[in-house]
Amino acid sequence: MSLGKLGQALTAREIFDLIQDEMDQVEKKITLESVASVDAVTAIGQYLQSAGGKRLRPSLLLLSAKLAGSAGPCAIQLGAVVEMIHAATLVHDDVIDAAETRRGRPSTNVTWGNHTCVLAGDWLYMQAFQIALRERNFQILDLLIGLTQMMVDGELLQLERIGRIDVTEADCMELVDRKTACLFSVCAKLGALAGGADTHAQEQLAEYAWNLGMAFQLVDDVLDFTAREKTLGKPVGGDLREGKVTLPVVYALERASGEERQLVETILRRRDYDEVPFSRILAFLEKYRGIGRVKDRAQAFTDTARRIISSFPDSPYQRALLTVTELVTERDH
Ligand code: IPE
Ligand code: IPE
Ligand code: MG
Ligand code: MG
Repeated sequence: MSLGKLGQALTAREIFDLIQDEMDQVEKKITLESVASVDAVTAIGQYLQSAGGKRLRPSLLLLSAKLAGSAGPCAIQLGAVVEMIHAATLVHDDVIDAAETRRGRPSTNVTWGNHTCVLAGDWLYMQAFQIALRERNFQILDLLIGLTQMMVDGELLQLERIGRIDVTEADCMELVDRKTACLFSVCAKLGALAGGADTHAQEQLAEYAWNLGMAFQLVDDVLDFTAREKTLGKPVGGDLREGKVTLPVVYALERASGEERQLVETILRRRDYDEVPFSRILAFLEKYRGIGRVKDRAQAFTDTARRIISSFPDSPYQRALLTVTELVTERDH
């Protein structure tokens, strides 16, 4: 893993060490701010926080802030804000998807039920905005509100497409953008803003993180077919079972025979792998390089992210952000 004149790549541990103090403060902030007057809401927040999760979004925010100058109290607050927004989207998403597992444990909807989870998600969103509001900065609120609407619209669009086989590559890319890339982008931009970067550097970091987020979600769509449930922390094959045609399937369908199309249609109709086994779908994707082509697309986004971050001066934070691109494409969960 040589990065040429930019010096040594960092390990995941070294990246984490660079922001460990600030991340500890973000965790404390989340714990402190997740106490609601209703016990169930507090419990849901704590349950999600303690279940692990990669903390990728606050990490991106803190690294961007440090690259720009420093990660002070504003960056810490915003780190908590983005992780809480992420948690809120997961609570709502698991209700929508009737999910059973998240972060290797029963998902919150299983334990607390849909009704409580919808309201707990709302509470988490509002609490995140409440914290952001304390910065008294309209640009921050503008970014966060626009972002949340983008993500909610994305979930609505996805809902409209559930069970449909006529999904296009452009449809998939739009969802990947709305679901993941826009949040990644806002994280880096908020970090840059908090760290005191100029407008150009803010835009560059936002663009870097957008590309990183696109790659991250495309890898997620691949892992849904290739990972092991124990490592992933959620069931494999879930997307198709939930009626979602993601990019690996779209690519394979482009070349599929009528009979092969039927296989996919059967799963979309039945929402299980009893008639058409999961292994049959894997073989179908393999035959038309559905997975391989999506990995290539992810790699192209990663390359763009690397190119952008390479234009920043060499520093531990710049190298960390460069290494994050590799961790995203090579990850197994
Ligand atoms: C899960 O995001 C939702 C997607 C965008 C695929 P992460 O994979 O970052 O989830 P955690 O926070 O690590 O659990
Ligand atoms: C993730 O969406 C939630 C959002 C980013 C809004 P998915 O439904 O595709 O992801 P998982 O598989 O549940 O994590
Ligand atoms: Mg889901
Ligand atoms: Mg979903």
